[in-house]
Amino acid sequence: MRVSEAVTSRRSMRVFKPDPVAKADIEWIISTANRAASNGNLQPWKLYVTMGKARLRLSSAILKAIDANETAPGGEYDVYPKEFTPVYDARRKLVGKQLYTLLGVQRGDTAGMAKQFRKNFDFFDAPVGMILTVERRMGNGQWIDCGIFLDQLMLLAREKGLHTCPQAAFSRFQHVVRRELNIPDDQVVICGLALGYADPDAIPNNLITERAPIGDFTTWFDE
Ligand SMILES: Cc1cc2nc3c(=O)[nH]c(=O)nc-3n(C[C@H](O)[C@H](O)[C@H](O)COP(=O)(O)O)c2cc1C
Repeated sequence: MRVSEAVTSRRSMRVFKPDPVAKADIEWIISTANRAASNGNLQPWKLYVTMGKARLRLSSAILKAIDANETAPGGEYDVYPKEFTPVYDARRKLVGKQLYTLLGVQRGDTAGMAKQFRKNFDFFDAPVGMILTVERRMGNGQWIDCGIFLDQLMLLAREKGLHTCPQAAFSRFQHVVRRELNIPDDQVVICGLALGYADPDAIPNNLITERAPIGDFTTWFDE
């Protein structure tokens, strides 16, 4: 597979087939992604991989916490800017509208939206659920490194015919994730990552999100 094929065929999948993923493939993806560049070669990423009963235990612990309204203390970092300027607000709303339209969830249908939100914590039924963390003492530079590592995981998954969905939703229930996976207090839960074989016939998996033209964010100096 060409790099460009991996990049263009990667998209966030939200319906997975139950088919198991070979552990050797997961190990290959992780060990190859580990070649990611990082500032000073710090390699600050930490990864927790759950499968089988461990994956189910993590999911049910979070869903139980949601049902019991144990939502505090919440996320430890800002997933979004504190205030949205119009351009970013429009992008976020557009993708939300497109996704919920495909899901058949109408505007204002809070129960439908809550149902979809819950699916995050079952890793959208993917057999493999990963959690990415970084030490609390690390700075912005190391968060960039973790983002690069995350992207490498997602792209390498494509080479094995697998799909992914990165999930910041897990950061909101970091207290439960921490408890279930024995994650030390000195680490921040960045996000989850669902990994598995996507169901190509599932309607939500057909969402091809839009991108701004490169002129919107690229400034050239070529004379
Ligand atoms: C760090 C990160 C966190 C995300 N968290 C979630 C999430 O919690 N739930 C979800 O359904 N999608 C999540 N997404 C997926 C984004 O909605 C998606 O990447 C974006 O809409 C672009 O679509 P694409 O990934 O299909 O290209 C996340 C993406 C990133 C990069």
